[in-house]
Amino acid sequence: MIGAGTTAVVTGGSSGIGAATASLLARRGCDVLVTGRDPAALDTVARHAGARACAADLTEPGAAARVLAAAGEVELLVCNAGVGWAGRLEDMPEADAETLVRVNLLAPVQLVRAVLPGMLERGRGHLVFVSSIAGSMNVAGEAVYSATKAGLDALAASVRGEVTGRGVGVSVVVPGVVDTPFFARRGTPYARRRPRPVPPERVAEALVAAVERNRAEVFVPPWLRLPARLRGVAPALTDALQRRFT
Ligand SMILES: NC(=O)c1ccc[n+]([C@@H]2O[C@H](COP(=O)([O-])OP(=O)(O)OC[C@H]3O[C@@H](n4cnc5c(N)ncnc54)[C@H](OP(=O)(O)O)[C@@H]3O)[C@@H](O)[C@H]2O)c1
Repeated sequence: MIGAGTTAVVTGGSSGIGAATASLLARRGCDVLVTGRDPAALDTVARHAGARACAADLTEPGAAARVLAAAGEVELLVCNAGVGWAGRLEDMPEADAETLVRVNLLAPVQLVRAVLPGMLERGRGHLVFVSSIAGSMNVAGEAVYSATKAGLDALAASVRGEVTGRGVGVSVVVPGVVDTPFFARRGTPYARRRPRPVPPERVAEALVAAVERNRAEVFVPPWLRLPARLRGVAPALTDALQRRFT
C-alpha cells in the first residue's frame, strides 16, 4: 500500500503530525497531496516533502470534495486535521464547538464517504484516522474535543466492520501528547507533567507501520493502551486516578 503508485491525501498536512506524515509517505514513494488552510505553510511542506498541495478550509461546505478532486484516485486517506479547545463546556462559544465538530468529525465522514466507493470498487485502499487519547479517556476541560475524538474512534470501528474482507483497511492512530503547535493554537499550553510530548515524526512512523501491517489501532506511545483499556473495564477507578494524577 505504501510506495510508488499510491496516491495519499493527508489532511492537516500543513503542520505537526500531518506534515511529518506527508514527508514520510513521500520519502516512501507515495504521490502525496497535503491539505490545510494556510497556503504558505502548505507550500513549504509540499516543497520540502516533494508533495502536492491543495488549500481548503474543512469547515466549509464542499471543501472535502474539492480536495479529493485535486488528488485524483486516492488509495490512502489520512484524516488528520484537527483543532482543540480547552476550558469548561459552559464557557465554550457555540461557534468553537461547531468548528471542532466540523473539522474533527464531520470532515472525516465527508472524506470517507467520497473516497470509499472507489476504493471498494478497486478492492484496494486504506483509511487512517488520527484520533487522540482524549477520545479514550474523556478529559475534563476538553469535553467537545474528547467527544469528537471518541466519535472518530466509533466511526473508524463501524466503517472497519463494513469494509472487512473487501480490500480496504482502517487504522486509528491514538497519540498522547505530541510536540506540535496544537496547544499554542488552541490558546492553552500543555501544562501536565505526564505524558511527556513525543515528536510528530514518531507518530508518523507509527501511522505508516499501522497501514503496512493493517493494524486497527496504534497508541503513541504504546503504553497509553493500558489506561485506555482500563477505562473501558473500570471507568470510575480510571476517572479517580485521572483526577488524582493530573
Ligand atoms: N499535538 C498533540 O498533542 C495531539 C495529541 C493527540 C491527537 N492529536 C491530533 O493530531 C492531529 C494533528 O494535530 P497536530 O498536533 O499536528 O496539530 P497542528 O500542528 O496544530 O496541526 C493541525 C492541522 O489541522 C489543520 N486544520 C485545522 N483546522 C482546519 C480547517 N478548518 N480546515 C483544514 N485544516 C485545518 C491545520 O492546518 P491549517 O492551520 O493550515 O488550516 C494543521 O495542518 C489532530 O487531529 C489532533 O487532534 C494531536
